[in-house]
Amino acid sequence: MLANKPSSALTQSPSSRCSRPSRRGMFIIRWLSRALPLPHAHNKLSTPYLHEEQYQPPSWANPYIKLVPHSRLGLAQLPTPVHRWHLPGLPEGVEVFIKRDDITGMQLYAGLDCHLVLRTSRQVVDSDPGLTGNLLVSRLVGATLHLVTKEEYAREGSMRLGQAVVDKLRAQGKNPYLVPVGGSSALGTWGYLQASEELRQQTSGMGISDVVMACGSGGTSAGLCLGLHLAMPNPRIAVHAYGVCDDPDYFYDYIDGLLTELGVWDGKGGTSSVPSARGLLRVVQARGTGYAMSTDAELQTMKEVAEETGVILDPVYSGKAIHGLIAEMRASPQAWQGRRVLFLHTGGLLGMYDKEDQLRQLLGGKQGYGHKVERLEVNTTSSSGADVRLQVGDVQHGMMQ
Ligand SMILES: Cc1ncc(COP(=O)(O)O)c(C=O)c1O
Repeated sequence: MLANKPSSALTQSPSSRCSRPSRRGMFIIRWLSRALPLPHAHNKLSTPYLHEEQYQPPSWANPYIKLVPHSRLGLAQLPTPVHRWHLPGLPEGVEVFIKRDDITGMQLYAGLDCHLVLRTSRQVVDSDPGLTGNLLVSRLVGATLHLVTKEEYAREGSMRLGQAVVDKLRAQGKNPYLVPVGGSSALGTWGYLQASEELRQQTSGMGISDVVMACGSGGTSAGLCLGLHLAMPNPRIAVHAYGVCDDPDYFYDYIDGLLTELGVWDGKGGTSSVPSARGLLRVVQARGTGYAMSTDAELQTMKEVAEETGVILDPVYSGKAIHGLIAEMRASPQAWQGRRVLFLHTGGLLGMYDKEDQLRQLLGGKQGYGHKVERLEVNTTSSSGADVRLQVGDVQHGMMQ
C-alpha cells in the first residue's frame, strides 16, 4: 500500500452493498490513473501485482462497441475456474456449472484516498455505523464514510450526492473521480465484456445453454448480455439476471443506457444487430422482502448449498439469485429440462457477517451455533491404556511428557 496519497477518489454505494472482487475495477482504476497525476501510483503499476498492459479488445467487439479502453491494470487472478456444481434440490435433467468470480482475489488498489457515500437509517446517520459487513474492510483501508438517510438518498439520487462530495473535495484542492453505484458505468461494463471472452474460451464444447447471475446495479448483467450476444452467437445463450433491489423495467432501461453510452447503436438506437436489453436478457424479480434483507428461506438455501457443495454464497446478491433460480426450476421443471446452466458467482462473502443474528437462529443448537459442537475431553485414557494428555498451545511440552 502506498503511504503518500496524491489525490482523492470517490466511490459511491449504498450502505449494505458488498465490496467484492470486481472485474470492473481494473478498467475504472486504469482510467483514473490516466486522468489524474499519480506519481506514486505509477511506480506501483510496475509491480507484478499491479501489472499494466495495453488493452486489446476481443475481435467480436469490433465494430459494435465504440467506447473502448486503451489499457488496463491487472487486479484479478484470471481466468477464474468453471466447474460442475451439484446444487441441492434441482429437478431431474438440469445440469448446473459455476464460474468462481468470488475468488478473483482482487488486490485493493492503493494510492488514492477513498470516500464512500453510504445510505443508512435515520437512527445511525448521525452516529458511527461501526464495522458490520464490508465496513470492516472499508475502514481498515482508511476510507472516509459520508452518511445519508435512505430518504435523502431517494430524494437526491446517488449521482447528486456523489457530486456534493466531489465539490467538497475540490474546494480542498483535491482532484476526485466519481465512481457510480456498483462501478456500473459504460467503462466499468468492460469488466464483464472481457469476462464474456473468458467464458467463450473456457466453455467451448460444453454446450452451456444459459448463464445466470445476480443483478444489483446492472453493470455485470450489461457486460455479460452484450458480450455473450457478440461473442457466442451460435447457438445463442439465454442470459438470466436475478434482480435483488429494483424492478426488471428499471434494469432494462439502465442497461439500455449503458449500451447507448458504449456506442453500440451509434447514437441512432436499435439500428445495429444488437437488440435492446429486453431482447438480450431476462431480468427476474428476486428481491424477496427487500434489498439486503434476507428471508429465512433464502438463508436456508445458502446453508444447504454451503453444506452440500462447499460454495459460500452471499445474502445480498448470489444467495437471492440462487434461491430464486432453484425456486423457478422447481416450479417449472419442464422449462429447464436438458438445460446446461452456468451460474456466475460474484462474491460478497463479507455480507454474511451482517446476518449473524438471523443465522444463529437458523443454525439451531444450544447457543445457536449449530449442533456439531462437542466438548473436547483433554484428560482421557487411550485404548492402549496409556494416559494421553492433550495440551493445546504448548505442543513441545506435551511431546516431552
Ligand atoms: C457481491 C456482488 N454480487 C453481485 C453484484 C451485482 O452486480 P451489479 O451491481 O453489476 O449488478 C454486486 C454489486 O455490488 C455485488 O457486490
